[in-house]
Amino acid sequence: MSEKLVIKGLTKKFSKTDGVENINLTVKERELLTLLGPSGCGKTTILRAIGGFHKIDSGKILLDGKEIQNLPPEKRPTGMVFQSYNLWPHMTVYENMAFGLQIRKHSKAQMKEEINEMLKLVRMDGSEKKYPGQLSGGQQQRIAIARALVLKPSLLLLDEPFSALDAKIRGQMREELKRIQREAGLTVIFVTHDQEEAMAISDTIAVMRRGYMEQIGKPEEIYDNPKTRFVAEFIGEMNFLEEGGTSFAVRPEDITLIKQENGPYRILQMMSLGHYTQAIVVDNKGNEVKVFMEKDEARLFAADDCVACRFDRKQVFAA
Ligand SMILES: Nc1ncnc2c1ncn2[C@@H]1O[C@H](COP(=O)(O)OP(=O)(O)OP(=O)(O)O)[C@@H](O)[C@H]1O
Ligand SMILES: [Mg+2]
Repeated sequence: MSEKLVIKGLTKKFSKTDGVENINLTVKERELLTLLGPSGCGKTTILRAIGGFHKIDSGKILLDGKEIQNLPPEKRPTGMVFQSYNLWPHMTVYENMAFGLQIRKHSKAQMKEEINEMLKLVRMDGSEKKYPGQLSGGQQQRIAIARALVLKPSLLLLDEPFSALDAKIRGQMREELKRIQREAGLTVIFVTHDQEEAMAISDTIAVMRRGYMEQIGKPEEIYDNPKTRFVAEFIGEMNFLEEGGTSFAVRPEDITLIKQENGPYRILQMMSLGHYTQAIVVDNKGNEVKVFMEKDEARLFAADDCVACRFDRKQVFAA
């Protein structure tokens, strides 16, 4: 796979502390890369710098091998979808879609064909005459994505596109986006602060913290081998424990409960979460440990049972 986007030493500061510093990032052709991190870590700043909505302090942004950091947004081959959809409420779906194309002086017939094609891709064909106010949040989001796609961007930038949707529709939109990405052969940079969404959707995740990249890798790599405590804490569930003076971390699914009279832990709570069960156990100092187990195994345990914990996979992080 060839390189679609290369960012070298990108710095954009708003003050001494705010912004992003010395960002280096490569996105491959047809890849979906997610920028993941807590609020204020600089995700939108990077996306806006790529789209041309921020003048950067220093660094280079190469798209398809060409430097774009000095081009105005409309001259960049990028499409951006903002969190707040930004559809024009007084225009129909068709007019919303056509707006950018008119600027590019497409013929009427060609325009109609391209709009139809995109509406089909996002499964919104037939909605041409509707106004945004007559659509659900998920439908508006699809139109916003279709509107960006109809301009045939070389790179699609999505800033928390699903954050306003409820959990179920969010899940469906994820699957839709993956399908659209596959069918259209798109390269996408996706921003979220939701680690579960990032795990589900990404080819690569870049975990950000306070304006820099903390770890970049495949979802499984980041989950299985977090480089720092911050990443370990941010992605998935993690217990941070101490035993005999040493600290370590262990995922809830890497702990096995063993029934043991006078065992060091007591079960505080068993909670069925559908296909698996979560147990909270507590030691005599009040330290709580979260444990995941299969449904069948969970039948052997009940609240107030005394147990021992076997830690099947411990991880250690530098202080
Ligand atoms: N236009 C601006 N002027 C001044 N400071 C800004 C501006 N835009 C962002 N910042 C600051 O830069 C930092 C990074 O902001 P950014 O919007 O990139 O964060 P984010 O990761 O997208 O957060 P969120 O998840 O809340 O959207 C924050 O501390 C923010 O306050
Ligand atoms: Mg943001």
